[in-house]
Amino acid sequence: MEIKVNASKDYSVIIKDSLCELKSYAKQVIKGDKIAIITDKRVEKLYLKQVEEVFSDSKVYTYSVNGGEESKSITCYYEILEFLAENGFKRNDTIIALGGGVIGDLAGFTASTYMRGINLIMIPTTLLAMVDSSVGGKTAINLKSGKNLAGSFYQPSLVYICTEFLKTLPDREVLSGMGEIVKYSFIGSGLTLDEIKQGVNGSLIYKCVDIKRQIVENDERESGERKLLNLGHTVGHAIEKVENYT
Ligand code: GLY
Repeated sequence: MEIKVNASKDYSVIIKDSLCELKSYAKQVIKGDKIAIITDKRVEKLYLKQVEEVFSDSKVYTYSVNGGEESKSITCYYEILEFLAENGFKRNDTIIALGGGVIGDLAGFTASTYMRGINLIMIPTTLLAMVDSSVGGKTAINLKSGKNLAGSFYQPSLVYICTEFLKTLPDREVLSGMGEIVKYSFIGSGLTLDEIKQGVNGSLIYKCVDIKRQIVENDERESGERKLLNLGHTVGHAIEKVENYT
């Protein structure tokens, strides 16, 4: 399945049950010969090797952070920028965000600012990242004063969703993604709670991404309609902040 997003940059969201077609889609958007995979320690153990193999004919560098919201920090952001510079990354090289929402935000913000913006591919590994954060171009890191206070709108050149990754997702993460899916049934049309009750599959993910696509295309920089996508997020951000992102 494929959804084309027509935003400030046009790109495809591909939904597959394996990584088999990642290479052919990525080839269409990769220009340089270097790729930096930004991931976290958990995803690294589970899936890094498979993704590296897909790109075995490029120069692949990997930067792995600790999982969790603490990694959306100025320190991690700065260290990744230095890592890219030390390894000679140029503007036509590529960052791949391999992970959940934290990795997408961190790698996306880094991609948007390194040399004023380098190519970005999202490979989301959590349900939440598949149905929400990997699509639409919001990137951010946290400040002591609050969540996502330094960020950018920066669209990826490709989002590749591999539903196989959901098999290793902890229940808590499935619930977290389900919260987003229920959100879409409230704010968009064509997705009923009965469909959601049937469980997660590619076509459910497709419907969510398509609802998000419509909203992002209408209001990419959130001056109005896009605020609908924050349903439940705003109170969640407040809770995260008072709990110090634990
Ligand atoms: N995650 C909310 C948005 O993309 O606007």
